[in-house]
Amino acid sequence: MLLEQLKDIVGPKGWTTDPGDIQSRLTDWRGMVRGTTPIVISPVSAAEVSALVRACADAGVAIVPQGGNTGMCAGAVPDASGTQIILSLARMNAIRAVDANNFSMEVEAGCILEKIQNAAIAVDRYFALSLSAEGSCQIGGNLSTNAGGINVVRYGTARAQVLGLEAVLADGSIVSSMRSLRKDTAGYDLKQLFIGSEGTLGIITAATLKLYPQPGPISTALVAINSAGDAVRLLSFLRAEFADAIEAFELVSEYVFGLVVKHIPDTEMPLEDTAPWYVLMDVAIGGNEERLEAVLIRAAEADLLSDAVIAKNSTESEQLWHMRHAIAEAERAERKAQKHDISVPVSRLEEFLQRGEALLADLVPDAQLVAFGHVGDGNLHYNVALPEGSEDGTLVTTAIYDLVDELGGSFSAEHGIGSLKREYLPKYRSEGEIALMRTLKRALDPKNILNPGKVI
Ligand code: FAD
Ligand code: MLT
Ligand code: ZN
Repeated sequence: MLLEQLKDIVGPKGWTTDPGDIQSRLTDWRGMVRGTTPIVISPVSAAEVSALVRACADAGVAIVPQGGNTGMCAGAVPDASGTQIILSLARMNAIRAVDANNFSMEVEAGCILEKIQNAAIAVDRYFALSLSAEGSCQIGGNLSTNAGGINVVRYGTARAQVLGLEAVLADGSIVSSMRSLRKDTAGYDLKQLFIGSEGTLGIITAATLKLYPQPGPISTALVAINSAGDAVRLLSFLRAEFADAIEAFELVSEYVFGLVVKHIPDTEMPLEDTAPWYVLMDVAIGGNEERLEAVLIRAAEADLLSDAVIAKNSTESEQLWHMRHAIAEAERAERKAQKHDISVPVSRLEEFLQRGEALLADLVPDAQLVAFGHVGDGNLHYNVALPEGSEDGTLVTTAIYDLVDELGGSFSAEHGIGSLKREYLPKYRSEGEIALMRTLKRALDPKNILNPGKVI
């Protein structure tokens, strides 16, 4: 009965129950969780989303919003009950309007991130969110997870790129704050409720995004360093030189780049000697590579780096970034490490790494650290590959999260909570925060039909 109602709302092109079509939607990108669903439903408008949610609310049936399904915490995957409906935003993929003079763009939630970046470039503007999954993740998913990526050091997370939002609530009503204003203090900032809430408070159907001027020619450098602490000191050194022109500042361990070379065709390290750590950086200094070289030489004289290569052209830059963007795929191909998407204040990163090393040596001496991340904003993917045969990594994960917490950090920096990290939320957020989160969830979704079992 409900399924027929849902099919009627979206018409014949808007649903599938074909197991072949549905397969890839039932498991997350890393294959950690597998669920099941009776139907994948794909509306084309906020009005259709509204009608679908209303029908599901009346029937008391849960909805799992799904974007590009590239999430790292299994948030877009239904549970194993076979009752939860997947609502895919894939067909809501229009760019509604671009306002170059207002530096803003209106898009539907199912727009692929790369399409948005290119639409900005087409009017000589810049959309600042960038991550390795940009060819397949959707802006709705990016906003729902408050995604980070490689440019946060300069532009902030997904949350900071939003001027307005449209969302469908659990009772089917549509709430639109699709304004394109930089200043607006009229009441509560409702859009921020939905950003980072992983589909548990509402379904995002559209957004007004903030655009920037083009940053100009980008210079890319790969730098070899002896310790992760040097990365932090190098960042301070470079900021004194380049102020906020640092567009990206990524840390990658020698082992991790080794995984990329091993698993990803046509990749090789451009530096002759190896080093324990590398920083891959982009700076927007008008293409003045002589200046970059001079600054890096001074950094070397100050013992902040041991070697460096500056990309001579965009092809070389792309090759370097290809190595970085392939990390998640290389890591998945090797074996599933225990993921820890943590952040600490940048100034405490060295202490975190030193104490983390001691902690792993004590708990699991045979484990392999798989560390990389967005060190410019204090976010490290501090992943641990446990020795073959190790059953349970909970002890290791808890010890790492405790350390992060002690240092004033977060156990969940940019990937969200989903279903995989849910058990940890009450431990690392105060009672008051958890109580308010529950109050919000109950108020906005009293029947618990929006992505139940995720986040809280
Ligand atoms: P999905 O995976 O489909 O969904 C994610 C969550 O959002 C789910 O809870 C889902 O229910 C909800 N959701 C999706 N769409 C909507 C909507 N319209 N309304 C309400 N809820 C919705 N993340 C980073 O932050 N930084 C990175 O650098 C980064 N790099 C990545 C690299 C790779 C190779 C991969 C595979 C993933 C990476 N991710 C990264 C993780 C992932 O969070 C992002 O890819 C992206 O933000 C998820 O978008 P998506 O459309 O795939 O969302
Ligand atoms: C990245 O920084 O590459 C992503 O967050 C993906 C990952 O952590 O594997
Ligand atoms: Zn990341």
